[in-house]
Amino acid sequence: MENSENNIPVEIGAFFDDKASTYDDHQKANITQFGNRHMIVAGAIEETSRELRILDLGCGTGIELEMLLARAPNARITCIDISGGMLEELKRKYADSLEQLEVIQGSFLDMPFREGHYEYVVSVLAMHHFIYPQKLNLYQRVRKALLSEGMYIEGDYYLPPEEEGQHLEHYQQLLETGAISPDTGYHIDIPFSVTRQRQVLLEAGFSKVEVLYEGTNAAVFSAC
Ligand SMILES: C[S@@+](CC[C@H](N)C(=O)[O-])C[C@H]1O[C@@H](n2cnc3c(N)ncnc32)[C@H](O)[C@@H]1O
Repeated sequence: MENSENNIPVEIGAFFDDKASTYDDHQKANITQFGNRHMIVAGAIEETSRELRILDLGCGTGIELEMLLARAPNARITCIDISGGMLEELKRKYADSLEQLEVIQGSFLDMPFREGHYEYVVSVLAMHHFIYPQKLNLYQRVRKALLSEGMYIEGDYYLPPEEEGQHLEHYQQLLETGAISPDTGYHIDIPFSVTRQRQVLLEAGFSKVEVLYEGTNAAVFSAC
């Protein structure tokens, strides 16, 4: 998915509002190309009829919800996304399950989460737009949101270590030239390597970090 025509990054909510109606078709092609991270994330949660409490960060149109609900049909899922357009699609698709879903529009970077509440926090394809201090702060809050036996599961876009610096450098250049502001979220890719992702999760206080899947530019992590 491209940014604006002049290649200046677009504010992230506006970017996804614009893509919402075609997002699922676009993702279907990516799932074939990069492996089904949605399925692997959902596969890591317990198969149960219990009312599991799950928090989905950057739920978008809810592609992973279908797979989460297949594993835990009675789950109560809190779905957070900054894009109203993506959430409208989600509500349309899951009109019959809305009593199980708490749909919240806003940024997970600065909204408070319930503490000690969730069996699982999940995120698919939503974390590759943030720099280290933002992710560290978020994962510390994710840890607090989980029950003591809870688990964070993230499937996203990651790069080989020799490539991650180029993206960060580009982001820093945009900041230095004033093209972007540090206080606004943009649709800019700043993926971590698998090594750095493990490091930030450990620094956030998770004691067991596992790579459940690793493919070309893609991985799925669990942390508890
Ligand atoms: C590539 S989509 C992934 C959507 C869905 N999880 C999936 O895998 O199909 C990334 C989503 O993260 C959301 N997002 C990005 N930054 C966010 C933030 N700071 N707070 C909440 N949502 C955010 C975007 O609006 C978008 O819907």
